[in-house]
Amino acid sequence: MSASAPGKVILCGEHAVVYGHPAIAVPVTSVAARATVKGRRVAGTEIVTPDLDEQWLIDERPDHPLSTLTERTLRTLGHGDKQALRITLESTIPIASGMGSGAAIAAALVRGLGRYFAAELDPALVSRLVYESERHYHGTPSGIDNSVVSYGRPIWFQRSPDGAAPRIEPLPLAESWTLVIGDTGLRAPTRLTVGAVRERRTRDPQGYDALFAAIGQAVATIRQRLLSGAVAGIGPLLDQNHHYLQAIGVSTPELDRLVLAARAAGATGAKLSGGGGGGIMLATANAAAAPAVARALRAAGAARVIVTEVAAAGSGSVLV
Ligand code: MEV
Repeated sequence: MSASAPGKVILCGEHAVVYGHPAIAVPVTSVAARATVKGRRVAGTEIVTPDLDEQWLIDERPDHPLSTLTERTLRTLGHGDKQALRITLESTIPIASGMGSGAAIAAALVRGLGRYFAAELDPALVSRLVYESERHYHGTPSGIDNSVVSYGRPIWFQRSPDGAAPRIEPLPLAESWTLVIGDTGLRAPTRLTVGAVRERRTRDPQGYDALFAAIGQAVATIRQRLLSGAVAGIGPLLDQNHHYLQAIGVSTPELDRLVLAARAAGATGAKLSGGGGGGIMLATANAAAAPAVARALRAAGAARVIVTEVAAAGSGSVLV
């Protein structure tokens, strides 16, 4: 029995989302994580990760976040007693690049276990289980990554100020559009960039809060354009969002170089995506211009380029 979860990018609103402003994230369906769950003859639940060449019994490494997630999921499914399972986890999502590889592997694992026990799990429940697991890597993540990969659809995400459940709204896009993603190949753990922003904000709370609010406003306008079929009009707002992210200190020369190269090659808008400090950027382009944007990103030094289509509502689920 197997299940998948897509990669993701944050289209707009990263960092500000940690402080209660909205953000939009979209699935990247050209890459995915997959979990295959099978019974095995001997007792014990084994996790196998062929990409990393690792294999372990969850009882032997109970503190491993995937062991903990497996146990928690089995308990949630009402199968907490000893099982005899082999869970194989594979992924084509670049690791630690801001494309949600850890969250997608976790979501595929939870959905795969659900399917094995004939339970089609609600995305909100999958997302909650994945969030617990993500905390191990990210400290206090906003919850946007686990949400988008668990729903497998573009989402609007906003933390609630009082610590209650976040507002998560799947966004029914009026039209499909093309995203070109460029990876700097440089790794910057999200918890470090989020921590550095928090630190800088303590020295200039007003300045930072004004930037976060401006990002939130751009996100709200982008949402309207996505829902009304004015996708071509989101480009300048993405450019503006990049500018604000530069101002809060999370862009780098490498990210800026890729952003400029994408714009020069005909992208309608470009910005860094995710935590910054390295990692990835994204550009919107009409389908005809996307190959030229991809070429320009490679020429400007991108370690990897991914072109993906963000599907309009009604195109069917990306979760298989
Ligand atoms: C990381 O993908 C996005 C950030 O906004 C952090 C978070 O939302 O947890 C930088």
